[in-house]
Amino acid sequence: HIIVETDTEVVMSNKSLDNTNLMWGGRFSSQQDNIMETINSSIEIDHRMAMQDIEGSLVHVKMLQFKKIIPTKICNNIIKGLKVIQDDVIKGKFIYDRKFEDIHMNIEKKLHDIIGDDAGYIHTARSRNDQVVTDFKMWIRDSTKDLISKITKNMKTFLDIADANFNIIMPGYTHLQTAQPVTFGHHILAYIEMFERDKERFTEAKKRLNECPLGSAALAGTSFPIDRFFTSERLGFDKPMSNSIDAVSDRDFALDFLSASAICATHLSRFAEELVIWASDGFDFIEISDSFSTGSSIMPQKRNPDAAELIRAKVANITGSLFSLFTILKGLPLAYSKDLQEDKELVFRAYDNLSLMLDVMNGMMAGIIIKKDNLIRAAASRFITSTDLADYLVSKYNYSFRKSHHIVGKLVIKAENLDCDLKDLKLSEFRKIDPNIDENVYKILSIQNSVNIRTSYGGTSPSEVKKRIKEWKKKLK
Ligand code: ARG
Repeated sequence: HIIVETDTEVVMSNKSLDNTNLMWGGRFSSQQDNIMETINSSIEIDHRMAMQDIEGSLVHVKMLQFKKIIPTKICNNIIKGLKVIQDDVIKGKFIYDRKFEDIHMNIEKKLHDIIGDDAGYIHTARSRNDQVVTDFKMWIRDSTKDLISKITKNMKTFLDIADANFNIIMPGYTHLQTAQPVTFGHHILAYIEMFERDKERFTEAKKRLNECPLGSAALAGTSFPIDRFFTSERLGFDKPMSNSIDAVSDRDFALDFLSASAICATHLSRFAEELVIWASDGFDFIEISDSFSTGSSIMPQKRNPDAAELIRAKVANITGSLFSLFTILKGLPLAYSKDLQEDKELVFRAYDNLSLMLDVMNGMMAGIIIKKDNLIRAAASRFITSTDLADYLVSKYNYSFRKSHHIVGKLVIKAENLDCDLKDLKLSEFRKIDPNIDENVYKILSIQNSVNIRTSYGGTSPSEVKKRIKEWKKKLK
């Protein structure tokens, strides 16, 4: 099978390029079974690391030349060949062949096609074991940067929405039961906080990842006088990894990446669920734009929040990848085993899913309609300010909180019996339960008052929310 990767798609064809195995043809006399090739090859997955592999090889070969391990003429030849390959990969012209198993051997084979036997010098003082993990780290590093910028984009979109609705009152929920009035801006800012932690997690993971495995060779290091600091620095790493056995076996950085991805995806999933709830008929707090909704093939009135539902579901894929990698690594002895080849598919899939989730969330949120009147109406119902009244009785009459909780409980029963809200009770009704209550009670029960007075740091009052918005604006500039 040949895979031709273009910018946008990977096309498969059935022709095989060659019948010999360039890498260990010396040791084997008969061909690999087709089914063995199927389980063994990873090119359909790891072709995505082509650019990183070439970059790593370019630096490796320059180091070999610098340390006089290979002659300058051969080094230049190799660089020329690698540049041709790089160009082909960028243009989507590189042809991948399953027979050459993985990206490393595909590129070395191609190099041989272009420059002949000089290509054989490139694998001096390295192994695919250190090569693959170097490529993989570089790939994750690039993808992490990309995810961080997508999270930031979402934060800016969310912040605009929070700002435009900073003082719109909505019901806050616990147990998904109406609890206390909150401001819509406050609720949205909660997700900005989560996104910020997501970014921190990715940033920390990227920092921890940034030690270079190249030069650890198969597992034991090498007898060639290589300079690992040279390659590490030129590949953008902070330093070479200090233990060659650890270097080829370590996949902690992939777990870190998947774990940060799973947590970020979990946040997206929680918000997606809120969007589904808010868009439902019973709530009717928002409308998701046509461009991010779907219709029903049978029910003409339907407008379904499929985008939000898919974000809600796709997290499963990412947490699944995290647990798959844990399961692969559990009990795996040092150093390299082929089990480790299965890591890439999981990480690539997680990246693809999270990247899509972030793009869709951002697009959906950019066009969302907030039904302010419905939010406010919903906030003004169901005894939502009962806690305010209880707090008021405590501070005004020095009641214990338990006593005032009891009084308000009685008032709620009364209102329920009269089928009205607390604020609809006559003053005389209030006084039958507690003669101290005066006409201030109506102000205390208003939702506006309820949010206005919650000025504790991080609280829901419009004034506090505005302050946080200002801080975020400065931070996200
Ligand atoms: N394709 C392999 C991987 O992804 C590269 C390393 C192969 N090493 C080996 N000793 N077979 O892990």
